[in-house]
Amino acid sequence: MIIKTAEFLKSSSKWQECPEPTLPEYAFIGRSNVGKSSLINGMLNHKDLAKTSQTPGKTQLINHFLINENWYLTDLPGYGYARVSKSMRKDFEKLITNYILNRKNLVNLFVLVDSRHTPQKIDLEFIGWCGENGVPFSIVFTKADKLKPNAAIDNVENYKKELLETWEELPEIFLTSAEKRTGTDDILKLITTTNEF
Ligand code: GTP
Ligand code: MG
Repeated sequence: MIIKTAEFLKSSSKWQECPEPTLPEYAFIGRSNVGKSSLINGMLNHKDLAKTSQTPGKTQLINHFLINENWYLTDLPGYGYARVSKSMRKDFEKLITNYILNRKNLVNLFVLVDSRHTPQKIDLEFIGWCGENGVPFSIVFTKADKLKPNAAIDNVENYKKELLETWEELPEIFLTSAEKRTGTDDILKLITTTNEF
């Protein structure tokens, strides 16, 4: 897919405030600081359309972008950010889960996971929650440039093994770097093949 236009539409603090669900939508989620906003920028070939930061917790609202005037891309707040109060974390959680469960036009959720780490409880729990709730999702490993290529591939293989302990089949998996802009075309390809644009 060629990105002809990409524009920021709106930030929403509730799923009810999101743009009318009249177009197919693809959302990006994952732990705070995993690289959601950076990957979106890399994929869209825009330097700073989605706001990024070295400090976790930068994205706190549901951000909608309109791509090629025919689909929505959503940048979601990160889950599991430890340095906010418990009640604030609960609010974030509610915002995210309500959005995912109620957004009728959501075609696929891209769950981002840092390729440098062994499987983390919080990500496995979130992936499990997606499965239990029948949420269509893919797993996107981020920051591959921070590892030697073989190490990144090994980590992905280990992750798959761990998933297969509880899952019968694996979701689609991507290995990406926003920095080097690798793996992003594969994500766009999945978006194209799940919709007739
Ligand atoms: P929140 O909005 O806070 O949840 O974070 P986020 O998941 O949107 O992460 P963001 O894109 O803001 O990136 C967090 C930090 O990781 C920034 O300092 C980025 O520069 C860095 N980063 C993101 N992706 C990559 C990548 O592919 N490679 C490298 N080397 N750094 C990355
Ligand atoms: Mg962000």
